[in-house]
Amino acid sequence: MQASHLNRTLLGAIAMTLMASVALSPAAVNAQSASDKIVVAHRGASGYLPEHTLPAKAMAYAMGAHYVEQDVVMTKDDQLIVLHDITLDRTTDVAEQFPGRAREDGRHYVVDFTLAEIMTLRVTEGYNVETGEKQLNYPTRFPLFASTFRVNTLAEEIEMIQGLNVSTGKNIGIYPEIKSPAFHLSEGKDLGRAVVSVLKDYGYTRKEHLAYVQTFEFEELKRLHDEILPELGVELKLVQLLDGGAQNEWMQTADGVALIAQYADGLGPEKGMIIDRDSTKNNLRISGLVGFAHNNGMQVHPYTFRLDEGHVPAYADSFEDMLELFYFTAGVDGLFTDFPDRAVEYLKNR
Ligand code: G3P
Ligand code: CA
Repeated sequence: MQASHLNRTLLGAIAMTLMASVALSPAAVNAQSASDKIVVAHRGASGYLPEHTLPAKAMAYAMGAHYVEQDVVMTKDDQLIVLHDITLDRTTDVAEQFPGRAREDGRHYVVDFTLAEIMTLRVTEGYNVETGEKQLNYPTRFPLFASTFRVNTLAEEIEMIQGLNVSTGKNIGIYPEIKSPAFHLSEGKDLGRAVVSVLKDYGYTRKEHLAYVQTFEFEELKRLHDEILPELGVELKLVQLLDGGAQNEWMQTADGVALIAQYADGLGPEKGMIIDRDSTKNNLRISGLVGFAHNNGMQVHPYTFRLDEGHVPAYADSFEDMLELFYFTAGVDGLFTDFPDRAVEYLKNR
């Protein structure tokens, strides 16, 4: 069934199912133990070092994260780099180094730069590119343009994680996201196929291997499942990300989740879709999403758990209380956090 058709047929049901207030008793607590839960380092230990840099990934690894996340985009010369945005402006000095290379919207697109050009850029903690003044998005994080950081390729990052797996004897996984696949296709670049191809080159070929492939775009999820994975002869765990946008509200319904389950092994919702951010301590509004996913054999890994001021919702007493509510009251299987040390420690001590 097409998503658009599903949208039409489910509009009436959405109001009934979204964010229904559920008075959870302790008996409703998920049976999984702390040792079953996973911590995904969101863009690495990005609460401490500039996101997606190799030092941030090494730090996350050392902190004990179970998986390290890679957002992946493609360069002009078809190389895969690890970067959250399809533009270079928020986290590099591209505007200073390459004047005159922005598109009409003022942004410098990764697809317009070669890997060699991108490798010359300095990487920084993310800043606000809207105001014209360089101000950190998270004021208490790593200082702007301090020290020296570079963009890295997906292959470089996988080699570092696999190398650490050899040298430490641990087995930490990867969690690549195919960023804006439709945009890349419109630029003549098949990002999804290229990502899976690199994963195959590095030995991720079966579902039991420690890799999840995630995307926000349902059409890409289907293409991965129906075309790319079979054509490359691999099976990988797929995760449908949910951003809560009006276009994608169907994904939060029981029928929508059942449809996604035909293609995916997991859901990655924005955390407010699981516990309504307007909840209070005495009225925790938990949606049916985790139950829908579990009923369909899917895992649930919400994003993004942050310590920064204003990012722990009022219904939680602390960052750790927020983790408790998600892991053990709502029953999620894992979560993305910028502060993997805190989540690892929390699970260890529970
Ligand atoms: O992929 C999970 C989470 O990272 C999605 O949000 O925008 O940080 O990639 P984003
Ligand atoms: Ca991501």
